Parts: sequence; structure tokens; C-alpha cells
Amino acid sequence: MRIDIMTLFPEMFSGVFCQSIIGRAVGRGLVDIRVHDFREYAHDKHHTVDDYPYGGGAGMVLKPEPLFESVEAVLENVEGQRVGPVNHRIVLLTPQGQPFTQGIARGLSTCDEVVLICGHYEGVDERVRQHLITNEISIGDYVLTGGELPAMVVTDAICRLIPGVLGASEAAADDSFSNGLLQFPQYTRPPMYRGWSVPEVLLSGNHAEIARWRKEESLKRTRERRPELLDKAQPCLDSEAVAGPIS
Ligand SMILES: C[S@@+](CC[C@H](N)C(=O)[O-])C[C@H]1O[C@@H](n2cnc3c(N)ncnc32)[C@H](O)[C@@H]1O
Repeated sequence: MRIDIMTLFPEMFSGVFCQSIIGRAVGRGLVDIRVHDFREYAHDKHHTVDDYPYGGGAGMVLKPEPLFESVEAVLENVEGQRVGPVNHRIVLLTPQGQPFTQGIARGLSTCDEVVLICGHYEGVDERVRQHLITNEISIGDYVLTGGELPAMVVTDAICRLIPGVLGASEAAADDSFSNGLLQFPQYTRPPMYRGWSVPEVLLSGNHAEIARWRKEESLKRTRERRPELLDKAQPCLDSEAVAGPIS
């Protein structure tokens, strides 16, 4: 799988994807993450990427040309490297987008290519939304200065779901949200710390009992902290449903 990140601040990504699990996945060729400075696609000698909003008002708006042309160049490159159609998504990070979930991450992890566009200032020219992107994602109901941190969040969540990225000991199957519930409590050694003991059942070696305890704790924790998750039907998690049709 390949992920291309379009940004005005490529230096922000240095180091982020070289560490830990994602760094290992990149090293093993399970994911190819490329960061592009779309300022290089500006048309004038000053490399202007933003301009005043029509109609007036505060702030600057990202111009359409550098975004369209940089994304088109990336897609051309991807298509040149693959035989057959490329299952791709072009995602704009925006606080106005679909709230990001594990289901959306799972859908995106099945794509061949994901382009992530990081906005800045007041955001992007509306024609980018209307005619370039396939999906809009928000990482929460708050406003950040730019789309770089959201792009890192989305990339990390996608990458750990690519088959082979997590080892057996890190498997995602038990994670919170993977089955619609929050994960059960976890303990490790020592069995007694400052008088606080590990639940007896976890030390019993009885796998059926442990599985039952975990299921109960998972339900209890979800009921206490996120009851709305229990009300929701198991979301439809296939990529078509969560990420929209392939354009
Ligand atoms: C200051 S914000 C622009 C907000 C825009 N004026 C609005 O009210 O919707 C600049 C950029 O940061 C990114 N951004 C900010 N908050 C975000 C969030 N919660 N989720 C995803 N991207 C976000 C987007 O790429 C956005 O274009």
C-alpha cells in the first residue's frame, strides 16, 4: 500500500514514520509513505499557494492549482507503477469531514493508494472539495492550525491495520473499537503491587474463564464509558461503505 501526504510543511513529518511499528512496516516494504510539498506546484516565481478569499473576510485560502496538479502528478506516478486499476482515495483533512473511526481506518487500509491533503490557513478552495477529493475526514470537533497532525493520526491508524504490520503479540483484533466495544483491562507482572492485586482469573491459566472475564469487562467498561457504542449496530466496515465509492 502507498500513502502520499500533500503538505506545505514536509519537515513536520521527519522522524514520525521512521520509529517503532510504522518504521518497521516502512522498512519491510509493507507500506510506502511519501511526503510532498505542494508549494512546488505553485505557478508563480514566489511559489504562492494561498490568496485572499473572494467576498472578503479574515485569513487566506489555499489555491486550487497546486493541489490539483500535485495530486494528479502523484496519481500518474502510482498508475505508472501498477498494472490494472488502482483502488485509491483522495482524502482532505478538515474539521468539517466525516469523524474518523476505526471502521474508516480499516476501509482505507484495504486501498492501494491513499492521498492525504493537509489544509492550512482558512482551508482549501471549495473546488478542491467538489472536484478533486473522494473523502473528507475530521479527527475531532476542534480546529487545529493545519492538517499535518490529522494526517499523521490517520496514517498511523491505517498502517497498523495493514496485514503483517502488527506482530502476533500486537494483534489489533482485541483493540478497542475492533468489535464495537472498548478493550478489557490489561495487567502485567508483578501480580501484587503496593497491595493491589491482579484479578485471580487472569492468573488461573483457564483460557475459557479468562475469555469470559474479558468479554464481561469489555461490555462493562463500554457501558460505563461509551454506552452509545452498545446502541450502535456493528458498523458496516467494508471500504466501499466507509470511504465512499472509488472515483
Ligand atoms: C485552521 S483549519 C481551517 C478551518 C476552517 N476554516 C473551518 O472552519 O472549517 C486549517 C486546516 O487544518 C486542518 N484541520 C484543522 N482541524 C482539523 C480537524 N479537526 N480534523 C482534520 N483536519 C483539521 C484542515 O486541513 C484545515 O484545512
